[in-house]
Amino acid sequence: MNMQIKGTGSSLPANVLTNDDLAKYVETSDEWIKERTGIEKRHISTGETVASLASEACIKALADAGKSAEDVDLILVATCSPEMALPCVACQVQDAIGAVNAVAFDLNAACAGFLFALHTAHSYMAAGIYKNALVVGAEVLSKIIDWEDRGTCILFGDGAGAVYVEADAAKAYNFSFVQHADGRKGMVLKCGTRNLKNLLYSGEEQSMFVTMDGREIFQFAARQVPGCINELLEKTNLSVDDIDYFLLHQANLRIIEAIAKRLKADISKFPANVQNVGNMSSASIPVLLDECRKSGMFKPGMKLVLSGFGAGLTYGACVITL
Ligand code: ACO
Repeated sequence: MNMQIKGTGSSLPANVLTNDDLAKYVETSDEWIKERTGIEKRHISTGETVASLASEACIKALADAGKSAEDVDLILVATCSPEMALPCVACQVQDAIGAVNAVAFDLNAACAGFLFALHTAHSYMAAGIYKNALVVGAEVLSKIIDWEDRGTCILFGDGAGAVYVEADAAKAYNFSFVQHADGRKGMVLKCGTRNLKNLLYSGEEQSMFVTMDGREIFQFAARQVPGCINELLEKTNLSVDDIDYFLLHQANLRIIEAIAKRLKADISKFPANVQNVGNMSSASIPVLLDECRKSGMFKPGMKLVLSGFGAGLTYGACVITL
């Protein structure tokens, strides 16, 4: 089954927070953050919501594809930071953009969420259920971050990216996926959304902020992601040399470098924007894809590998022939 990317769009909050700005809130420095993560700045919401950023990204993706909102069959929003439990973000987007004919729902696979959503859309199209979809990764992580924890607050940013994909009978684009989950290690990166016990019978309140074992996450990404990409390449009879670009989840530059090294792939094949936007979880890959696509670096026939990895633990990869 073939699916074609017809349009991409992204949206970032207007407000930018540099490392020097951050150093006013926690004991850190531009030098420490850049050396350990490569991050220089990030966009942080001053009012934008997951739904407002996702809606703007969708409007841009539809304009890029020359489609109107009424044409959309399916809206899938990958997010782990919705402000509201109900209604889901995808339904809020449907309302905001006027996609009256679409079915809409959210999916949470943390930083692998966009990739898992793309796979879901692809599967629907392969089954002949829907002919097109808006697939979105959108996060306002700044509302679930402990701004007093210098170990985590330096890493994240807010934003949204969207792709408009269509089922395609011709062999213009070709997608192939692998995806995995390992719940045994889930608690190394977590965030509560409500108390585990109701407050009527227990006074125990739990943290509603992201907590993480940074070293465990680093090791997980450096080991599992190259393995997962190699599994994908084997499945599709491709080698690392056949791939023009690897668009990885933008967790931090050191993780990307470690993955490139393990794959024995030239680092110049790994475009990165984490320096300017931080780690945006599910939004990282679609925002990077939009930037790369609009910069003109993609040419017909090129092969891209996308790979997402994060809390859950979840990880996966996909190869696209342009
Ligand atoms: N500024 C200055 N010092 C800091 C900061 C900071 N922002 N944060 C921690 N430190 C200090 C620590 O207190 C510690 O000091 P100590 O030695 O006196 O105790 C020292 O720096 C080293 O701390 P570590 O946590 O051991 O630092 P490490 O080298 O592991 O780097 C980092 C931390 C960057 C988080 C690293 O573990 C990492 O990259 N992990 C991957 C995590 C990640 O990217 N998560 C994103 C979410 S998951 C995902 O997207 C897949």
